[in-house]
Amino acid sequence: MKLDHVLSVSQFFDTSILEQLFSRVAYLEQADKGNYLEPTLKGKMLATLFYEPSTRTRFSFESAMQKLGGNVITTESAGMFSSAIKGESLEDTIKITSGYADAIVLRHPELGSAARAAAVSEVPVINAGDGPGEHPTQALLDLYTIKKELGRIEGLKVAMVGDLRYGRTVHSLLQLLALFPQVSMYFVSPEVIGLPEKYSTYLKEKGVQFNHLQEFDSILGEIDVMYVTRIQKERFASQDDYNSVKDAFVITSKTLEKMKSNSIVMHPLPRVGEILPEVDSDNTRAAYFRQAKNGLYVRMALLELLMQSRQT
Ligand code: CP
Repeated sequence: MKLDHVLSVSQFFDTSILEQLFSRVAYLEQADKGNYLEPTLKGKMLATLFYEPSTRTRFSFESAMQKLGGNVITTESAGMFSSAIKGESLEDTIKITSGYADAIVLRHPELGSAARAAAVSEVPVINAGDGPGEHPTQALLDLYTIKKELGRIEGLKVAMVGDLRYGRTVHSLLQLLALFPQVSMYFVSPEVIGLPEKYSTYLKEKGVQFNHLQEFDSILGEIDVMYVTRIQKERFASQDDYNSVKDAFVITSKTLEKMKSNSIVMHPLPRVGEILPEVDSDNTRAAYFRQAKNGLYVRMALLELLMQSRQT
């Protein structure tokens, strides 16, 4: 398995590649817990360039790099704290940064920005979110979490709830889920933030069974995974538009009472009220903090793969 960049989940549209990757992820997790991680990235440098806020993605990449013996150069709020504020183009920033690092993790508000960066970079670029586009490493860690928590992906019923219009994690994850036989999906959202038509068309072409709903009560007893997303205030044109949908779906302990005992609740986080803290105490089904931790190991495996691909 060889990788030049990580820009889109479409690079992982092969279940044997996913199995290979996830096998390494599981090894790295055990090695970290058993204190026998090897410094496979010793002498390597990672640049994390974030033009939008992040806690999980940036810290997990930086932690992954350092745990594997590598080093990190970083800027958060890159639009303000890099020379972008003086008018430097993304392309020039990437050309310069790729002279200082062995890989670049980029989060940027513009759709297609990661592909633009990869086109001019001397080193691998990892898309950590390109506006409303994709967040492929999140989708990989989401899929890994489902497999780890439930033991399989085939045949699962997955409900995606919340902001399906702007939620790039949903857009990436649904494409990966569509690779597995008999997976069915429910898309639960107010119409105004419903799933873009192109993804419905995609699923139809792949023969995946799915339904659009504006409530979830009717499916709680049958779903295996409830994947909840934040309504993305920053992507609405006005506060009124945001207010009209912001509390559309709130997961409470009562919601979980109607769900199967072996189902799980996931969320890419951060949450801002769509899953109440009372749900956290259902440790078996509240999988979102474990999901975030899995990101560390998925990103370790990806960094190894990218840097090793360059050496061969
Ligand atoms: N899930 C996710 O991308 O979180 P951050 O915005 O904190 O990186």
